[in-house]
Amino acid sequence: MDCSSSKETPPHKAWWTGETVAVVTGANRGIGHALAAAAELRARGLPSVRFRRLDVTDSASVAAFASWIRDDVGGLDILVNNAGVSFNEIDTNSVEHAETVLKTNFYGAKMLIEALLPLFRRSSGTSRILNLSSQLGLLNKVRDPSLRSMLLDEGRLTEQQVEAMASRFLAQVKDGTWQDHGWPAVWTDYAVSKLALNAYSRLLAARLRGAVAVNCFCPGFTRTDMTRGWGKRTAEEAGRVAAGLALLPPADLPTGKFFKWSTPQLYSKL
Ligand SMILES: NC(=O)c1ccc[n+]([C@@H]2O[C@H](COP(=O)([O-])OP(=O)(O)OC[C@H]3O[C@@H](n4cnc5c(N)ncnc54)[C@H](OP(=O)(O)O)[C@@H]3O)[C@@H](O)[C@H]2O)c1
Repeated sequence: MDCSSSKETPPHKAWWTGETVAVVTGANRGIGHALAAAAELRARGLPSVRFRRLDVTDSASVAAFASWIRDDVGGLDILVNNAGVSFNEIDTNSVEHAETVLKTNFYGAKMLIEALLPLFRRSSGTSRILNLSSQLGLLNKVRDPSLRSMLLDEGRLTEQQVEAMASRFLAQVKDGTWQDHGWPAVWTDYAVSKLALNAYSRLLAARLRGAVAVNCFCPGFTRTDMTRGWGKRTAEEAGRVAAGLALLPPADLPTGKFFKWSTPQLYSKL
């Protein structure tokens, strides 16, 4: 992870101040690394990054990190949940590592968000969370109609239902029945982790409306270790767009949106 703080004078018209703090998880390589550098360049033209070890799947690590943000850094304004894993090759669909994938991409991001939420400074329009997600977790990928309608029913959907969905998938992986339940067909474990992250993000956006903006960003197929170097664009290109979204001016900052590249679109895409 990295913690970027713009301690020097920001460029003219920037909304951030000398005290603004951005946390980016998974910033030692890939899109997170590019994002940290790009965000910092946009903020003030000079890199000033503090790295700190964080394992988002480990509650002790998350708690220690939150204590550091509270006691040493003094709070945060921007959280980019970028850390993520996938163990699938481009054209395979293995669920061998499903538990790690869900623990990192969904439960890990959620655990970190909940630990850091009290530490957001919540100044008007500036507090924001950006979750790196994927189109593979959009609702049009879900083939089970009852699961689809549960996720579409935003008025009644609860965080407990989203957690139960993730647990159900993991139980089906364990008992070998996951293929019978209409989950997304491509990179299934990864897609379910992002499906859960997307649903949780929408609920969180509603819960925090007026206090912290919550959006998702899909960079598309990007050349990183996760894709074994395959993809349409570079990590730097994806990082630049992610930085632009993370730093949107308060007046332009939506909440509850899913950005495909820089364009907001429906979570459902149905
Ligand atoms: N690349 C794409 O085509 C693509 C497309 C859509 C969405 N995304 C999303 O974009 C994000 C970044 O992906 P990427 O392509 O840049 O992947 P990447 O190059 O594989 O980098 C993943 C990053 O996540 C970190 N990470 C993994 N497990 C972690 C954990 N338990 N705790 C903390 N950090 C952890 C890694 O740290 P270590 O080095 O310590 O493992 C690494 O810094 C992910 O959320 C991914 O799902 C990527």
